[in-house]
Amino acid sequence: MNAPLNDRGVIHRYRRFLPVTDATPVVSLSEGSTPLLHSPRLSERTGAEVYLKFEGLNPTGSFKDRGMTVAISKAVEHGARTVICASTGNTSAAAAAYAARAGVQCAVILPAGKIAVGKLAQAFVYGAKVVAIRGNFDDALRIVREFGGVEGVAIVNSINPDRIEGQKTASFEVIDDLGDAPDLHFLPVGNAGNITAYWKGYKEFHAAGRSTRLPRMVGFQAAGSAPIFRGAPVERPETVATAIRIGNPASWQGASDAVSESGGCIDIVSDEEILAAQAWLASNEGIFVEPASAASVAGLLKCLSGQPCSKCPLATALRPGARIVLTVTGHGLKDTETALTFGGFVPKEADATLEAVRAVLEGN
Ligand code: F0G
Repeated sequence: MNAPLNDRGVIHRYRRFLPVTDATPVVSLSEGSTPLLHSPRLSERTGAEVYLKFEGLNPTGSFKDRGMTVAISKAVEHGARTVICASTGNTSAAAAAYAARAGVQCAVILPAGKIAVGKLAQAFVYGAKVVAIRGNFDDALRIVREFGGVEGVAIVNSINPDRIEGQKTASFEVIDDLGDAPDLHFLPVGNAGNITAYWKGYKEFHAAGRSTRLPRMVGFQAAGSAPIFRGAPVERPETVATAIRIGNPASWQGASDAVSESGGCIDIVSDEEILAAQAWLASNEGIFVEPASAASVAGLLKCLSGQPCSKCPLATALRPGARIVLTVTGHGLKDTETALTFGGFVPKEADATLEAVRAVLEGN
């Protein structure tokens, strides 16, 4: 099937590796093919080559679009008329957009009061039915699972394997851009679908002879929401990085397999480290990401500052020529409230004269 001219999405690019056939109606917003940006300052600090996979440049502003194009295309192929998901915000934004594109209904179940305002606006504006529950993400996912058997309804959380299939294309792109897999791959971990998907993608391209090696996978959870790191579910997860405010990840096993098979680890970063990394990345590299996304950068900075976890594989990768990829998962414009509040940013006003503006710029 020839893709229409404007479709340059992940199904078009990696069809051979995805569970689609000519019978699958492709629902796409030309997601994927996001830039792998070289980071001069992180490279300087590590002595290695550091790259940032900027997933905030997907159509709805996060990596979720990769999984959603596959999940919604397959759901429509199987006759779904409604899609449903639990979300900390980004999955619901992507589900709502792709459902709109497909012409099906979308219902999203969110933890009340814990969704960044940009993401909430997306769900509404794309036309989803929004229910905010008095509970957390884990409660929302428990409720969504109960819709599993309902005729005509498809669950589009990452418990749906089609989501993982779509998301693994990010690893394919990293390999295509670098010419091989990196030595290390850092990313934030919430419900743990993404680390599971990346590892699947790396293994598949390796098996297909498209890379000569596999990276070590290093995942970062927020310290107040770190069930995998701590080895037990967290009943009341808390973090400023609301996207990864999750106490009982659905893909826990996938994340554990990814780190144990690859020789990586799961570590934690504090809210302070996350916000500092977010500000550092924006003001030093010109890349504005949401707090959860900054967990990968916070993790690298923490490991460099001499407090790595006991299994940290970073030491082996700190050499010239080694390549480290950090996924930054979502755009900073999703959650401007957090950035403004914690940065204490308030514009200074001035009279509309050159002198007054100069006085403010010079700090008088
Ligand atoms: N970064 C961002 C910006 C996210 O939105 C999420 C997850 C993650 C990282 C973690 O990825 O769950 O695959 O380990 N957001 C989900 C959501 C839970 O509902 O939008 P994960």
